[in-house]
Parts: sequence; structure tokens; C-alpha cells
Amino acid sequence: QQMAIGIDIGGTNTVFGIVDHRGEIAYRGAISTKKHENVDEYIDELYQAIMPALNQFGSDKLVRGIGIGAPNGNYYNGNIEYAPNLPWKGKIPLASLVQQKFNLPSALTNDANAAAVGEMTYGAAKGMKDFIMITLGTGVGSGIVVNGEMVYGHDGFAGELGHTIIIPGGRKHWSTGAEGSLETYASATGVMLTAIELLNKYPDKPSILRHYEENEIDSRLVYDCAIQGDDIARDTYTFTGEILGKALANFVMFSSPEAIILFGGLCKAGSLIFQPAKRVMEENLLPIYKNKVQIIPSELKESDAAILGASALVWELK
Ligand code: BGC
Ligand code: NA
Repeated sequence: QQMAIGIDIGGTNTVFGIVDHRGEIAYRGAISTKKHENVDEYIDELYQAIMPALNQFGSDKLVRGIGIGAPNGNYYNGNIEYAPNLPWKGKIPLASLVQQKFNLPSALTNDANAAAVGEMTYGAAKGMKDFIMITLGTGVGSGIVVNGEMVYGHDGFAGELGHTIIIPGGRKHWSTGAEGSLETYASATGVMLTAIELLNKYPDKPSILRHYEENEIDSRLVYDCAIQGDDIARDTYTFTGEILGKALANFVMFSSPEAIILFGGLCKAGSLIFQPAKRVMEENLLPIYKNKVQIIPSELKESDAAILGASALVWELK
């Protein structure tokens, strides 16, 4: 039986799976991305994590190759280029580095594109020809599918929707310096920044978050507080959802998708973020689009969409 390795590189963690043709994940694992300033050390750790798992399989299983989804990854050349949320700067020929280390054919694509492929092949976008995948995690990414095909663009970098400007003159991005990009609001860091802003703006509102130092507040804590009914935490998600909704309206008017699929850590907040997003998206759409575009969560659990989409690259390798 033929198997593929799918790797999803996130700004914080990297998750991987060993996957068969039907999209069944036989083994999964994870390592930290963030702690590796050095890309060679990172690939070493990945190798240490994956090889023992491969060796467990009997000789009836043949591993065909490695597919990788990465922020700022380019399907055309296998590079990661100038990633604002990764520890490695400049251009990194990641697919070829992985290929050398593992001695297996390797291919790479943008992480959000990988998630879109996973969803199209095995999840919520099965049978859809036009949809947009938005990933809400350490960064905000997208995969745009038009007429059944992923949009890559001239250079292979199409679909960096997280860096589109939603609030002119808004928050300055920690890495790119651009002001008011979607990522500065709808990412994990964005949620943290919004929570801190709201705490300072409404000093009299009680909140569990006030029991923590500012540097202890992260999107997980805000989520935990929100499900306990904390007002500031819930308002944080409402605000995040509203900004996302504006962005989604723009994206819908750009490519007229059947659905928007949301994926990533922030989706855990469910209706806390989906409802305001839907409301504001509808408010900003031209009548021709109103009440036509669904916003749906990924149907694949945890990070599986991106692992599966990345692994699917392997079946295309010659
Ligand atoms: C990057 C995208 C990536 C997204 C999610 C963004 O900062 O520019 O390429 O898809 O983060 O990781
Ligand atoms: Na993309």
C-alpha cells in the first residue's frame, strides 16, 4: 500500500501525518516551529519525529513522498519566501532541503492552499467549484478556488488575503509594517491585541482577564474566558468577527464563491466569531450576493485539512 507524508507548517507548531490514498491518517505527530531559529535544526527535528513512525510500518507500505503546506510557500518553486510569521528570514528552499534530508520526493505549497485542497478532496468543499478557504491561526491565510482550480497567479503567490487592508490606518503589522491588514485583527495575535485594547478602553468592566499580566494574555486564554461568559472576552470575538465579516464581503465580491470555509485555531470560538462575521458580511454585500454565500467551518477535525491537502501533493509527483 502506498502512503504519503503530509506536513503542515504553522507559525507556532508543525503537525504531520502519514496518510493513505483514501485520506486515512495512520499516524500523526507534531513539533514546535517557533523554537527553531535555524531551519536545518528544524528539519533535523522533523526527521527525528517522522522516521521512527515510518519504521513502524511493515514492508507492505511504501512511502511515496512528502507534501508540505507552509506559510508563504510557493508551489511553483518549493520555496518559503519572506514569511512574516516564521523564524526563518528570506528565501528558504524548503522542499529541496526536506527532499535531501529524507531522501524522498518532496513538494510544497502554501499552507492555506493545502487546507483548501484537503477540504475540496475530503471535507466541506467536496463538489464545490468556487469557494474560498480562510485560515485563522498564527497568521491569516487563504486558498482561492475558482472554477474547480486553485488560483496560483503569475508568481504562485495568489491569495494572500490575510494581508489585505481592511482598516485603513489601522493596526501596524508586527512584521510587514502595513497598517490595518486583516491578519492584525483576525489572527491569534490580533485576538490578544483586541482583548488588551478592550481591557484598557473599559477599565470599569470586570473581567477574568484582569487577573493576568498583559504578557500572559493569549488567544487561548481569551477563548477560555469567552466560553465562561466573560464580557470582555466575548466582545473581543464580536469585534474580531465583525472585521472578518468586512473582509469576507470584499472577498465574496472579488470571486463570487459558493461558500467561505473557515479553518484554524480561532474557529474553536464557533458562533462567537461566525455570527458577527456573517452579519457584517451580509451588511456589506451588494444585493446580488446577499443571502447566497454560506460561511461554514472546516469539516475536517483539528489540523487535518492542511495535512491531507499537503499529502495530496504527493500523488501528483512524477
Ligand atoms: C502568510 C500566508 C499564510 C498565512 C497562514 C500569512 O501571514 O502570508 O502565506 O498562508 O499567514 O499561515
Ligand atoms: Na494562499
